[in-house]
Amino acid sequence: MSKILLSQQEIKSIVSKMAKKIQVDYQNKELVVIAILKGATLFMADLIRHLDLNLYCDFLRISSYGDCMVPGKLRLEFDLTQPVSNKHVLILEDIVDSGQTVDFVYQHLSNKSVASIKFACLLAKEKYHGRKVDYIGKVIPNQFVVGYGMDYQGLYRNLPRIEIME
Ligand code: IMP
Ligand code: MG
Repeated sequence: MSKILLSQQEIKSIVSKMAKKIQVDYQNKELVVIAILKGATLFMADLIRHLDLNLYCDFLRISSYGDCMVPGKLRLEFDLTQPVSNKHVLILEDIVDSGQTVDFVYQHLSNKSVASIKFACLLAKEKYHGRKVDYIGKVIPNQFVVGYGMDYQGLYRNLPRIEIME
């Protein structure tokens, strides 16, 4: 059983609102948008279509030794394909829970001499109190959600809306 948390229309409005801020903040800057695989792919596809900027896309994949609902130790599984030195970097994450993934990516990029680094997440759980995320689409209750890129055991990424797993 699952319950709808965000409709397609609500997701659309969250993404376009965030894109307006990003558009202003990166005006006249060359940007590398990096999606964390696999969850942030739909978010990236929708967000970048709102951005009238010179931007490059790249991807990072981080895997966890834990199961889907309880994360374990993190490991880099797939790295960037282009150098990011002197580039403005915007990392896209589907959802921030403990903040472990964001911290890991921040560490990974910290010695690459980037011009700037920011994080944008579509969703953040209420329990997240870290300060690394610059753009948060919506803060949600501490429940497990699926859809719009987010999965449970590899499934449900293709749902156009976001549902709470019950
Ligand atoms: P964190 O490292 O604890 O912040 O967790 C973030 C990562 O765990 C995200 O990249 C997601 O892949 C996954 N994740 C956390 N919460 C959820 C959820 O509710 N649904 C699906 N994936 C989640
Ligand atoms: Mg993920």
